[in-house]
Amino acid sequence: MWNLSKEELIFLVQSNYDIIIVAVFAIGVTFLTAKAWKRLTTVERLRRLWHGKWFKTRLFGKIHVFVPSNEGARMILANDFVQFNKGYVKSMADAVGEKSLLCVPHESHKRIRRLLSDPFSMNSLAKFVKNFDKVLSERLRNLETHGKSFLVLDFSMRMTFDAMCNMLMSITEDSLLRQIEKDCTAVSDAMLSLPVMIPGTRYYKGVKARKRLMETFREIIERRRSGRESSEDFLQSMLQKNSYTSNEKLDDSEIMDNILTLIIAGQTTTAAAMMWSVKFLDENREAQDLLREEQLTLTRKRPEGDLLTLEDLNSMSYGSKVVKETLRMSNVLLWFPRVARNDCYEIKKGWHVNIDATCIHFDPELHKHPMKFNPSRFDEMQKPYSFIPFGAGPRTCLGINMAKVTMLVFLHRLTSGYTWTVDDLDTSLEKKAHIPRLRTGCPITLKPFKVA
Ligand code: HEM
Repeated sequence: MWNLSKEELIFLVQSNYDIIIVAVFAIGVTFLTAKAWKRLTTVERLRRLWHGKWFKTRLFGKIHVFVPSNEGARMILANDFVQFNKGYVKSMADAVGEKSLLCVPHESHKRIRRLLSDPFSMNSLAKFVKNFDKVLSERLRNLETHGKSFLVLDFSMRMTFDAMCNMLMSITEDSLLRQIEKDCTAVSDAMLSLPVMIPGTRYYKGVKARKRLMETFREIIERRRSGRESSEDFLQSMLQKNSYTSNEKLDDSEIMDNILTLIIAGQTTTAAAMMWSVKFLDENREAQDLLREEQLTLTRKRPEGDLLTLEDLNSMSYGSKVVKETLRMSNVLLWFPRVARNDCYEIKKGWHVNIDATCIHFDPELHKHPMKFNPSRFDEMQKPYSFIPFGAGPRTCLGINMAKVTMLVFLHRLTSGYTWTVDDLDTSLEKKAHIPRLRTGCPITLKPFKVA
């Protein structure tokens, strides 16, 4: 490719010596991290096969304990912030911001969470449900009319992203949405990267993307404050508290860091769960038929063309169980990491403990025939901490209601309006993804469902 003489090559190396050293160092560290990560995940699986329950390993000189039982989960989650805390990760704070719920210390966490919660309560989500239903119905109709195969994962990523940006800041313009989405993905990729500011790295791209996002959010806030723009949304509900005491309102940087956090925490998780629901229902026709029957009963009762309401969603009893079973089996967040603040039982201060939701959700003593997709298992009461897709305790998922209503609306429109074929049955998972997702993205083709 390059035709360099030996002298030119030596000159090139000498004049770029510092860059080369940094690059070699970065490649070395990346290689070791990837190896260690692979070792952790592989060794974990192997050791589980041998030992079954709790397992301890050392990584980069730190002790990691995996906690695979509901009693262990209770012990840790009920003592969150007291005996355990999330570890501080510099790249995460640099990406989502120091004021993010994911990074702030206990006292601020309590205050920020309290002030963020109201728009995510079930009662506040009525408008979100209507908007989501309207856009979803249109987009599904378009796909069905075109009759082409599409990826459920891409579809649900876009659906959840657009719906959240609309709910948070009333953004609906497509070019702006796509720019924000691209930057949010870069921020999300940087969250667990090596915090070195070298151009081209995930960390570097994430920090730059965060800067652009903060500028966009700041401009929107300014337009709202000057009265040039007003909307009924999450942001407006935060800004309305301007004259309140500091204990009763969030400042601008708290609002902006947490808007970014909500988008990142909400999009990929909900979209993955939507994709898994399609896959599981395709493989379990009995469950699909039961769900369709429930949804059609609801359709028959309602005026044609009406959008769904919260009351409609409350009446979907089998639908709720399908949502739960999808979350149990898909394990969108595989484990929840904490660091011990003190010695506690057999765990020593400074150890990293990971609540292994996957192991708990597939424990045959907690869930009979755990590999079977069986929504009706939720007819029975579950043992405490045996079903924890949204975590538990003071850090329980803030978007739990939003995630549930999103999935219910999706399942309603999908099963009452269509049948579908999965066009690639490959079940292998994406490599290196934090969230388990089908590598194919689950391609499907929709067919309109005609009521007999
Ligand atoms: C199916 C979808 C979802 C799943 C499975 C899920 C799961 C979880 C879990 C397990 C946690 C706790 C992690 C831990 O304890 O370390 C969590 C926290 C969180 N989730 Fe979700 N989530 C989902 C959707 C959403 C949505 C839609 C939003 C936002 C609107 C959201 C926002 C958050 C936030 C802000 C936190 C941090 C809460 C805190 O630290 O106080 N999530 N989520």
